[in-house]
Amino acid sequence: MRQEVDFLIIGSGIAGLSYALKVAPYGKVCILTKADAAEGSTKYAQGGIAAVMYDSDSFDKHINDTLVAGDGICDREVVEMTIREAPDRIRELVQYGVNFDRSGSRFDLHREGGHSEFRILHHKDNTGAEIERGLLEAVKAHPNIELREHQFTIDLITQHHLGERVTKHTPDIMCYGAYALNGNTHQIDTYLAKITLLATGGIGNVYTTTTNPIIATGDGVAMVHRARGVLRDMEFVQFHPTSLYNPREKPAFLITEALRGAGAILKDMRGNEFMQKYDARQSLAPRDIVARAIDNEMKQAGVDHLYLDARGIGKEELINGFPTIYAKCLELGINITKDMIPIRPAAHYQCGGIVVDRNGESSIHNLYAAGECSCTGLHGGNRLASNSLLEAVVYAHNAAEASIAKIGQVTHCHAVPDWNAEGMVFNEEMILITQTKKELQEIMSNYVGIVRSDLRLQRALDRLNLIFRETELLYNRSVITEELSELRNLLACAYLITKQAMARKENRGLHYSIDHLKEQ
Ligand code: FAD
Ligand code: SIN
Repeated sequence: MRQEVDFLIIGSGIAGLSYALKVAPYGKVCILTKADAAEGSTKYAQGGIAAVMYDSDSFDKHINDTLVAGDGICDREVVEMTIREAPDRIRELVQYGVNFDRSGSRFDLHREGGHSEFRILHHKDNTGAEIERGLLEAVKAHPNIELREHQFTIDLITQHHLGERVTKHTPDIMCYGAYALNGNTHQIDTYLAKITLLATGGIGNVYTTTTNPIIATGDGVAMVHRARGVLRDMEFVQFHPTSLYNPREKPAFLITEALRGAGAILKDMRGNEFMQKYDARQSLAPRDIVARAIDNEMKQAGVDHLYLDARGIGKEELINGFPTIYAKCLELGINITKDMIPIRPAAHYQCGGIVVDRNGESSIHNLYAAGECSCTGLHGGNRLASNSLLEAVVYAHNAAEASIAKIGQVTHCHAVPDWNAEGMVFNEEMILITQTKKELQEIMSNYVGIVRSDLRLQRALDRLNLIFRETELLYNRSVITEELSELRNLLACAYLITKQAMARKENRGLHYSIDHLKEQ
């Protein structure tokens, strides 16, 4: 199948859906999404979205908190722009039909680690599900938007597909659309687009334990890497300090930081508080500090989890304010009003990714990116809690405005050929893919996790190189499947994280190496 659209959007989380709603009045929009439309990190977001809504808080304080968490390498102008735009974007979400909890006529605000004020708008403890619901309903009701589920985008189309040699030094790489594996026909379809937006989410499945859903395999980042676009800050992988310790469960269930904001305290296996040893802000220090402290305590005690004690919070507040967590824990026999919650860190968020400018445009012409797959400069070395849903809506807006301004000057490239699958054989050995994925996740968890060293990173790279060669051999002779493509994408992300971590010869934000302690 060959289809021409004005705006091609890859991904149906907060970034893709918000962009779609904005550009839809200006042309034909097609959203490709690889699973059911609602599946993605957005749906699982618990804590909420950060914004300064009242005078008791200030833009300056939110800006400062973001800069402090980012450990000196945020782009200050981006931080200022994003935070000042936040209230307008929140009001738009409300207009699209998203409900945030209120206390009387005012929004009820939570607080999370690294925030100096209560400024997190939320919908109980399932904010993301509410945002996804509201946006999806609005998208489905729009006549200009076609939403196509179970369409796995394999690669972006550039001059490379017209037979030209494209390297990272090619000055004007153009994006003409994308090839996607159709989950119904199992054929590879060609989408020609004037403008393409990548909104493919995170990379959590590069690691064994992650809060991210299984769709988070870094596809957008890997596609841009293959298309020779610019990627940055991949070494800054955020581990959330408190995922529920339940070893067989994938993804790891999150225990929102808002629970610590409400008074829950981290404790060791003996029930003693320990965060005072690490940071004056204790359980509410920024995530990089808390995750490292937990990792250290676990290693010193030789245990595989610690505890979060929420018993000091009133029973009513726990049950009504955190109903999802209360119900989930109860299912596992943990009554959070009486029992401590077993927790451990889990890979949670990719701060780096596809480099975009203020308009969300990547280094490849006519290719935009928004949401977790992008790198705007907002997060620097470590994202402040609840700033990522915010970044996604702000950049979806900016990218939409820039795309609308440009769409009249762009034409479709009809010379693009359809995908050539000649000479490919069905790969019957699924074990090769599943086993390699496990190996990759173990390498990354053991050697490129919360605490790193030069030796660990080199060891990871050597092993990744080996499985990269094996996987490319398999890919070059196999009919493409989603599993094989995802494995390739995970490998590309693992490689980028490791290489960029090796290049950073200092401890900064989420990148922490025992070989660089003395330089701090
Ligand atoms: P996603 O919502 O992940 O959507 C990605 C989309 O891309 C999906 O539709 C997927 O199917 C599609 N896709 C991916 N690859 C392909 C492909 N090859 N072809 C076609 N489609 C593809 N942030 C906050 O600010 N506040 C929070 O409270 C918060 N809580 C969180 C809790 C959890 C458990 C998790 C996992 C994350 C949380 N985050 C939070 C982070 C935040 O949810 C994400 O960063 C954000 O939702 C990402 O939105 P997105 O639109 O970029 O991607
Ligand atoms: C949480 O609710 O703790 C997650 C918030 C975030 O990742 O921003």
